[in-house]
Amino acid sequence: MNIKWDANKYTEDFSFVPKYGNSVIALIDADKGSSVLDLGCGNGALTKALKDKGYLATGLDASGELLDIAKEKYPDIDFIQGDATDFTLSEPVDVVFSNAVFHWIDQDRQKNMLRCVHEALKKSGQFVFEFGGHGNNQKIHGALKRAFSEYGYCYEMPFYFPTIGAYAALLEKTGFEVHFAVLFDRVTELKGESGLKDWIHMFVKTPFSIVQTEQEKAEIVDKAAEALRNDLFINGKWYADYVRIRMKAVRL
Ligand code: BEZ
Repeated sequence: MNIKWDANKYTEDFSFVPKYGNSVIALIDADKGSSVLDLGCGNGALTKALKDKGYLATGLDASGELLDIAKEKYPDIDFIQGDATDFTLSEPVDVVFSNAVFHWIDQDRQKNMLRCVHEALKKSGQFVFEFGGHGNNQKIHGALKRAFSEYGYCYEMPFYFPTIGAYAALLEKTGFEVHFAVLFDRVTELKGESGLKDWIHMFVKTPFSIVQTEQEKAEIVDKAAEALRNDLFINGKWYADYVRIRMKAVRL
């Protein structure tokens, strides 16, 4: 994963992330009692939603800080610390579910993650997921790129946002059959007057490692946010230009 989480702020200010995940859970077609792995479970909000649906839910995440929150909030759920691109389960599961995670994994590590998921699933098991798809946050990253270049820096895009075609090909190569795929816009309201700047500070960390001073960092974020005001500040609220890729595949 390309991030070190500020776990408490994420849990408090970005609760829309798991909120939207409930409609992804609805794609699962499995009996109550089926085993479901929540891959990249974060603070466990959706692992709990899976449990409430009657599934035997387990969460896996790399972040010890987020898992501490998950374990404290949901002590009756099993949470495992692990890397989504390098994990094995003691028993295969009926379903692997994931929300808002895979864009954090570099393109060249995606096949490792898909191999782990394939191994973790029973034959005919379901793989149901959503993450940032092609064109996700294009306006925000475009504005950051222009602000970086004004300060003489090159903006390295830290996320992987594939098309349906590219991701379906990866899935098929790994031994999955794609049953459902959709790419759709989901303009998303951000919290508070500094919503867009807070979003950038929370989620866009690695490109700023080359920026030399804290003052320059702050100026770049200010410039990008001001450049986006016309497009993304609507009726007194900030929005992010999300695009989602949502898929369901079955292990052959
Ligand atoms: C997303 O959920 O699409 C996303 C969130 C933060 C950074 C990048 C993508």
